[in-house]
Amino acid sequence: VSAATTEKPWRRYTGGEAKGFVDELRLAAMKLHTRQQAQEGEMEAKAPEEQRVEEWEPTLDGYLKFLVDIKVVYDTLEQIIEKPSFPSYGEFRNTGLERSEKLAKDLKWFEEKGYGIPKASSPGVAYAKYLEQLSEKDPQAFICHFYNIYFANTAGGRIIAKKVAEKILDSRELEFYKWDGELLQLLQNVRDKLNKVAENWSREDKNRCLGETEISFKFYREIVRLMLS
Ligand code: HEM
Repeated sequence: VSAATTEKPWRRYTGGEAKGFVDELRLAAMKLHTRQQAQEGEMEAKAPEEQRVEEWEPTLDGYLKFLVDIKVVYDTLEQIIEKPSFPSYGEFRNTGLERSEKLAKDLKWFEEKGYGIPKASSPGVAYAKYLEQLSEKDPQAFICHFYNIYFANTAGGRIIAKKVAEKILDSRELEFYKWDGELLQLLQNVRDKLNKVAENWSREDKNRCLGETEISFKFYREIVRLMLS
């Protein structure tokens, strides 16, 4: 049994009332899942990527497109954090959750195996552009994307990875789903930092951040959908 099914870091944060701001962020995200995606989901599944992952029919070409586009998003996010427009972003440097280099390794592996690596397409490029613009004008809203992009990958992302790998990758585990160090601890460190940064925010700031969850989902879903293309 792989780590993705036995180790559920997020379980510890379910069910209770929101204590820190991260709990609020998490609740906002869980509601936007479909019932088929997660137990706590509240939405009805319509599009194929909203159905149970077991029912997905991913293709290798599609998965490569997904990896290329999600890399554009992580590259951008990590560049923004490296050269922050707002001091609060500096807290999130070197969290150990960074994915850009891991994705570069995965794509190199596919390339060496002779697979054609596609060019980035509009879902990844559009999200990256949105993040760049948002990061310069609204740090609270930007932090919502930071949270969702990293945490989605460690939760649903790993479930998807396992099922997709079984179907089309001969169960190969990609670097994208491996972390240097103890993932639970890395996640907890980032949760603590998010809570700390949000301590200085007004209720209005917090609500603007939470409200951004829907936009994050919309962009991210378009990229996930590439797997099924
Ligand atoms: C958590 C599945 C897409 C953000 C989770 C959980 C599951 C899941 C099973 C854990 C919930 C639990 O323990 O009950 C999926 C699936 C998706 C998907 C199958 C298929 C597309 C997304 C998207 C986003 C997102 C598009 C946002 C961009 C999150 C966040 C958490 C989460 C922030 C909480 C993580 C934590 O607390 O550590 N997801 N998800 N998910 N998901 Fe998703």
